[in-house]
Amino acid sequence: MALSTYPMSAARTHVLDNLSPERAKHSLAVAEEMGRVAKQYGLDKNQAAFAGLMHDIGKELPFANMVELVRAHDPVWWRDLPENCRHEIYLHDPAGAVLAKRLFPGLDAETLSAIRGHMLNDPDLPTLTRVLRVADIVRPVADYPGRQVLEHLLHAGELNMANLVLDAFSYRYFTQAGLPIWPTLLEHHAELKRRLGPIPDSIAALLKN
Ligand SMILES: [Fe+2]
Ligand SMILES: [Fe+2]
Repeated sequence: MALSTYPMSAARTHVLDNLSPERAKHSLAVAEEMGRVAKQYGLDKNQAAFAGLMHDIGKELPFANMVELVRAHDPVWWRDLPENCRHEIYLHDPAGAVLAKRLFPGLDAETLSAIRGHMLNDPDLPTLTRVLRVADIVRPVADYPGRQVLEHLLHAGELNMANLVLDAFSYRYFTQAGLPIWPTLLEHHAELKRRLGPIPDSIAALLKN
């Protein structure tokens, strides 16, 4: 359940004091985006903006610290993490959730789990997590081809379609960058596709390359 008030100003100060200027700018932009679309997706505006602001607080920790935090405070995640995915790209999320809980002990489980799972594409994850996943990539640190399509889908209320397209973008980017692919990425993508049924040609074209 959402808190009645979120410590936005303390969170903003933490982000500005602890993240690089580029990462802080990205976090503020994701928070703004989350606030913009919250109502449309039935989310609490403050909770959504807070999750956006805090989602990457673990991102710039040294890798060893990420591992230490996750092993100690999120042992189930660590246990289930495939060896090839012991990479900062997958560890900054649960590490960030541990930090968020430490900084704001009263923070609700839903917000923590959105921070913890903002890279995941399971279609059964809560709406807050799924909106955060897309908002993160709609307001990236660096622009990329196709960003506007995602932005359009997110603003049009097409969260499922946005996540579907994002799966394809992520797979392509991760493969090209030599990053490990999350073991259930393709399986969840296929499941979402199955649930959606027929897909417009314009979207199908984006899924191909
Ligand atoms: Fe992230
Ligand atoms: Fe991010």
